Amino acid sequence: MELIETGIIGLDGILGGGLPKGRTILVSGPAGAGKSTFGMQFLYHGIVSGGESGIFVSFDEHPTHVREETLNFGWNLNDIEKDNLLVIIDGFSPRAGVSSNEQYQTAVDVDELITQLVEIIDKTSAERVVIDSITALALSMASEQQIRRQILKLSAVMSSLECTTILTSEMRGGIVSRFGVEEFMSQGVIVLNYEYKNNVAIRSLNIRKMRGLKHEMSERPFAITSNGIEVYPTEQFYF
Ligand SMILES: Nc1ncnc2c1ncn2[C@@H]1O[C@H](COP(=O)(O)OP(=O)(O)OP(=O)(O)O)[C@@H](O)[C@H]1O
Ligand SMILES: [Mg+2]
Repeated sequence: MELIETGIIGLDGILGGGLPKGRTILVSGPAGAGKSTFGMQFLYHGIVSGGESGIFVSFDEHPTHVREETLNFGWNLNDIEKDNLLVIIDGFSPRAGVSSNEQYQTAVDVDELITQLVEIIDKTSAERVVIDSITALALSMASEQQIRRQILKLSAVMSSLECTTILTSEMRGGIVSRFGVEEFMSQGVIVLNYEYKNNVAIRSLNIRKMRGLKHEMSERPFAITSNGIEVYPTEQFYF
C-alpha cells in the first residue's frame, strides 16, 4: 500500500509513514479541535513538498475566512490558487443562501459535488481532496441509508481517481460519527480532541482505525502553533 505524507509533524511517524493513498479518512473532533487546520495542512504539504494539487471543499466557512485563517500559519493560499495547485470550492454560500463571487461553487448535494470534483481533478490532476465537513453534507440527506450510500459513492469515485480524501466530521459528546455511519464508511479514522486539566486545555490525537496499516493506538498530545498542527511524543503528555 502506497503511503503519502500528511506533513503534520509527528503524525507520519506514528502512522508508519503517512496516510494510505487513494483512501478516504475521517478526521473527527469537537468544535475548535483543529479539523479544518488538519485538512488544509495536508493539502498545503502535498502542494509545496510533493507537487500534488489539492481541492478544499468548504461547507462550514466562507472561503475568504479560510484564506485569512490559514495565512496565520504562513500558508498563502492565493498564490497556490493562482497556479491552480489548490482549488477551493465554496459550498458555504449556496448552503447559507447568499451570493458568492467564488470561481468554484457547489450546492450541498453529493452528486453535484462529485461531478464538480471529477471535472476539477481532470483539469488540475489533484491527488488530495478535503471535504470540510461531511457533517454538513450528511445533514442534507434524508436517511441513514442514503448517507451510507452517498459517502460510499463519493469514496469510491475518489478512490478510482487515486485521490486521497479527508472528510472532517463533527463530534459531539465523544461520539465519533454524528450519524453513526461515517466511521464505518471510511478506511481510517483520526480523532482530534481536547480536555481541560487544571484549567489548561490539552489537545490530543489518536488513530482510531486505519485499515491495512499497523499503527500506534495511543493518545498523543498535539498543539496548534504558528506552523499548524504538531504532534508530540507521549512523554510530553503529562505536564
Ligand atoms: N495561529 C494559530 N496559532 C495557534 N492556534 C491557533 C492558530 N489559529 C487557530 N488556532 C487554534 O485552532 C483552533 C481552530 O482550529 P480549526 O478551525 O482547525 O478547528 P475546527 O475543528 O475546524 O473547528 P470547527 O469545528 O469550528 O470547524 C482555534 O480555536 C484556535 O484554538
Ligand atoms: Mg472547521
